[in-house]
Amino acid sequence: MSQILEIKKLYKKFNHQVIAQDLSLTVSQGDIISIMGKSGIGKTTLLRMIAGLEKPDEGIIIIDHKIVNEDFFSIEPFKRGIGFVFQNATLWPHMTMSENINFALSEAYHDKKNEIIRLLGIQAIMEKYPDEVSEGEGKRVSVARAICSGAKLLLMDEPFSNLDSETKLELIDLIKALHQKTGLSILLVSHNIDENKAMANQIYELSDGALYEKKI
Ligand SMILES: Nc1ncnc2c1ncn2[C@@H]1O[C@H](COP(=O)(O)OP(=O)(O)OP(=O)(O)O)[C@@H](O)[C@H]1O
Ligand SMILES: [Mg+2]
Repeated sequence: MSQILEIKKLYKKFNHQVIAQDLSLTVSQGDIISIMGKSGIGKTTLLRMIAGLEKPDEGIIIIDHKIVNEDFFSIEPFKRGIGFVFQNATLWPHMTMSENINFALSEAYHDKKNEIIRLLGIQAIMEKYPDEVSEGEGKRVSVARAICSGAKLLLMDEPFSNLDSETKLELIDLIKALHQKTGLSILLVSHNIDENKAMANQIYELSDGALYEKKI
């Protein structure tokens, strides 16, 4: 199966704190992989390194067969072909929800955009600005934006936090349906074992700078 993400021998420290130490990971096309781990262990930092928002000390990151990080070489985040949903929804503050989604919209999602917005239940807030919506609403818009970008790899950092359980289950079903339709690959960070079991085909624990496979 085609590999969408390869991380080889990744090292990262903040002062003396080890985040990654000889860390390797492969995500194949269609995988949904979840990463768990204690608060402050480095899960967000790992996603930020894949996204190009944080520089590793050492290591190679390959996305869709293209090296995006090696030694002093680093490709900018928006050129990496990934969509991301971070812990705190990171929408452009000067754009409405609709403009935020359109900003990243790929050709392939023109026709599907309205259906995704409807499924996420965000039609009514499309003309609002980020400081006029709740955290959960902002999160759902950033999920819509990431999916509509047409990226082959989605990075999601606790995408279901701050959502009520009904919305959470709906969103999980929606993402799984889109995943089946499109062959999208997802790398997810979540503390919740039930969410992980519902979503992921593989679960890892990040500990002491390395990933350990957990049996589902
Ligand atoms: N830019 C930075 N400079 C120095 N230390 C940092 C920086 N960013 C993060 N850290 C530290 O690195 C560690 C890992 O942070 P990170 O946000 O990756 O943890 P996490 O596993 O995502 O935690 P949580 O589950 O609470 O979100 C933390 O101790 C944090 O304080
Ligand atoms: Mg985090």
